[in-house]
Amino acid sequence: MLFTALLVLVAGAACARAQSPALTGSTYTLGNATYWLSPTPASQLSLGNSSEVSALQNHTGLVPFTVVVANSTGFNDSDLSAAITSYQATDDVWDTAFMAGLYINTTGNASISNSSAVVLTSSGTPASTPLPPGPYLVDPVSGNVFQPWLLQQDINEAFVYGVVPNGNGGYMELDTRIAGMSTLTVAVPSRLYFTPTPAQPLAGMRLAVKDIYDVQGLRTGCGNRAFFALYPPKNASAPAVQRLLDGGAVLVGKTKASQFANGETATADWVDQHAPFNPRGEGYQDAGASSTGSGAGVAAYPWLDFGVGSDTGGSVRSPASVDGLYGNRPSQDAVPLTGVMPLSPVFDTAGVLTRDAKKWKTFGDWWLQNFTQYNQYPKRILFPTDIFGSSYLNTAPQNGTADAMFNTFIQKLEGFLNTSRTEINMTSLWNTTSPIIANVSNPPPPLTEYLNTTYAFIAFTDQVPLVADPFIADYQAAHNGDTPFIDPSPLERWTFGRSLDPAQVRPPAFTNKTVFLNWFRGQVLGGADNETCSHSLFLYPQSVGTPNYRNKYFGPPTSPYNFIPLRIAVHAGTPDFVLPIGDLPYNSTVTGTQKFLPVTLSVIAQAGCDLMLFSLFAALQDAGILSPVKTGPTMFV
Ligand SMILES: *[C@@H]1O[C@H](CO)[C@@H](O)[C@H](O)[C@H]1NC(C)=O
Ligand SMILES: *[C@@H]1O[C@H](CO)[C@@H](O)[C@H](O)[C@H]1NC(C)=O
Ligand SMILES: *[C@@H]1O[C@H](CO)[C@@H](O)[C@H](O)[C@H]1NC(C)=O
Ligand SMILES: *[C@@H]1O[C@H](CO)[C@@H](O)[C@H](O)[C@H]1NC(C)=O
Ligand SMILES: *[C@@H]1O[C@H](CO)[C@@H](O)[C@H](O)[C@H]1NC(C)=O
Ligand SMILES: *[C@@H]1O[C@H](CO)[C@@H](O)[C@H](O)[C@H]1NC(C)=O
Ligand SMILES: *[C@@H]1O[C@H](CO)[C@@H](O)[C@H](O)[C@H]1NC(C)=O
Ligand SMILES: *[C@@H]1O[C@H](CO)[C@@H](O)[C@H](O)[C@H]1NC(C)=O
Ligand SMILES: *[C@@H]1O[C@H](CO)[C@@H](O)[C@H](O)[C@H]1NC(C)=O
Ligand SMILES: *[C@@H]1O[C@H](CO)[C@@H](O)[C@H](O)[C@H]1NC(C)=O
Ligand SMILES: *[C@@H]1O[C@H](CO)[C@@H](O)[C@H](O)[C@H]1NC(C)=O
Ligand SMILES: *[C@@H]1O[C@H](CO)[C@@H](O)[C@H](O)[C@H]1NC(C)=O
Repeated sequence: MLFTALLVLVAGAACARAQSPALTGSTYTLGNATYWLSPTPASQLSLGNSSEVSALQNHTGLVPFTVVVANSTGFNDSDLSAAITSYQATDDVWDTAFMAGLYINTTGNASISNSSAVVLTSSGTPASTPLPPGPYLVDPVSGNVFQPWLLQQDINEAFVYGVVPNGNGGYMELDTRIAGMSTLTVAVPSRLYFTPTPAQPLAGMRLAVKDIYDVQGLRTGCGNRAFFALYPPKNASAPAVQRLLDGGAVLVGKTKASQFANGETATADWVDQHAPFNPRGEGYQDAGASSTGSGAGVAAYPWLDFGVGSDTGGSVRSPASVDGLYGNRPSQDAVPLTGVMPLSPVFDTAGVLTRDAKKWKTFGDWWLQNFTQYNQYPKRILFPTDIFGSSYLNTAPQNGTADAMFNTFIQKLEGFLNTSRTEINMTSLWNTTSPIIANVSNPPPPLTEYLNTTYAFIAFTDQVPLVADPFIADYQAAHNGDTPFIDPSPLERWTFGRSLDPAQVRPPAFTNKTVFLNWFRGQVLGGADNETCSHSLFLYPQSVGTPNYRNKYFGPPTSPYNFIPLRIAVHAGTPDFVLPIGDLPYNSTVTGTQKFLPVTLSVIAQAGCDLMLFSLFAALQDAGILSPVKTGPTMFV
């Protein structure tokens, strides 16, 4: 029996090998950089017998060259130096080493003096498919043209793997690596190949997605090694990802999620994967969870533009706040989540982390196409004094504190919107207004009690039947009854979820959630507005520059009880956008010197008003009130 099965397997394997030999690309080193080349040429030059190709054919091996585009009049030395200046300023892949050859797309004259480069023209040496500007390599025998994708090191360990197109409309893991301690490699194409258009506004922007989103051709790992190995590669991409690819985004990799999108604290909770490194401060801070790799990667790498995450209880906003990035939880159900691992469909949302408020708007406008645009902004800024801290009211915010940074930003926002903040006290507002509008006792229990268990009861009676039970059953069926390894945090929460009777705990939890939702949207935000979408903007602090070292030991993970401001949007279904405001100094216990950590602020608006927020923050960046953040140890300083 066993012998026969073995024979069949061996024959099957040999057969599969014979049927599909697959080249997965090659690497090419030029100067100090290494590039990935697709096995499939991007184009082919017809070398024919034009006089201009003889210089090319004098070379052996691949010849690096640069494509430039002439205007209708022609192309001369000053056009070339203008092109080089612009390539150097806008692209991180093109390099002067690609000047060994020049391919001039021209219908006019090309006159390049004093050049030792091979010079080809589109009229003398046509190409089988268009060659957008940028760096290329050509095989002087076949004329095959390849795009060099620059290999970058994932030194912050943000990625599960880099990806490249698989030639079948999907993606494959990039199976090469360049030197570096414990690091993966990610390949990026030249930015020069792409020109954004209304149909493809994200053209050329590099995208990484959290490894809970399905991508055609790739496995979805959800941060768990057993889960990764158990299920085959996906044959379709999640619609949320596909929409971004359709918009021209260039997928470069999958990023690490803390396991099954549960909260995990670096480093001890991260058993199956090593927690990504937050580049801020001295580089040994927790990078937030659960969209950890998307946050750490975008904060660390200038070659990465967007990191898609998901936010159930705070999983985009937490990395945005501690990694110092723009990051949003959208309105509930703004982005379809088919093909995305659920934590709880009641609370799950898809958000994105980025360094630039204007790119954020471009991305958001494309992703949330069903939403309505607004270009007028609310005039009511709600400032909850009890959340910002009671000390705030009594003393002027001290310079060198997060309060002072918040105050400075809010003053500029007040100026921009031509209004002044409205101070509210959430605690007393709930105490006095909720019994009037909702069926709660008078006086009501404080929100910290009323919503203490609401999130935990709903989320973990969802994830157990939706993810935990089927995964464990599938794994046991495939492994003689063995239970898979689960990290401590999801294990604790799944155990907790199993201890609950859904029929008993979910109805009151939904009642409390709904009461809060209606109260917050109506009583606090003051409803919707025809011109500005949301009647109000509700502000609250996110990170305040406090260190959270990744080499610290914490207690074991616990169930996510408590009502915290991060949960307002979770229960109310509203957008909650995190804004990077400033860097605060601290004395690093690692380096013994002063470093800086992010101060960030959250802005909530009425449900469905996401595009108004994207427009507002882009306008604030135009006005110099918000700024793009840098990669690395600090955002601004
Ligand atoms: C190659 O070296 C140059 C000069 O040292 C540096 O500016 C450039 O970033 C390096 N390129 C890569 C890909 O490391
Ligand atoms: C090709 O190489 C030969 C031999 O070195 C040289 O004589 C010839 O000028 C070269 N042709 C071109 C077009 O560079
Ligand atoms: C077009 O090309 C010609 C010849 O190379 C150059 O003199 C001219 O400045 C270019 N015009 C523009 C608008 O770039
Ligand atoms: C040259 O430019 C024209 C006009 O943009 C374009 O249609 C054509 O495809 C280009 N040729 C190549 C080889 O890229
Ligand atoms: C609006 O959303 C629905 C549901 O996700 C989708 O079927 C539809 O295609 C969307 N329309 C546009 C214009 O994006
Ligand atoms: C907010 O209201 C609560 C309850 O009335 C009160 O205890 C608290 O001091 C108030 N906080 C501020 C900052 O006014
Ligand atoms: C903080 O700094 C600003 C600008 O330098 C100054 O106008 C303000 O008085 C300072 N406030 C305090 C409390 O020191
Ligand atoms: C809530 O309101 C009641 C009056 O209805 C008052 O007695 C109580 O002190 C208030 N509690 C808080 C926390 O403000
Ligand atoms: C929240 O619920 C937990 C578990 O029942 C309990 O231990 C804790 O005291 C509660 N906290 C509040 C503020 O009610
Ligand atoms: C709902 O609110 C009631 C108080 O009205 C509280 O006793 C209960 O614990 C809450 N339950 C959940 C699941 O939110
Ligand atoms: C909003 O628009 C609707 C329909 O045009 C109108 O009936 C309503 O009065 C408007 N509301 C406000 C607050 O302007
Ligand atoms: C850092 O330490 C120095 C010396 O103890 C102290 O004066 C300074 O206030 C500290 N800075 C911060 C930001 O804590």
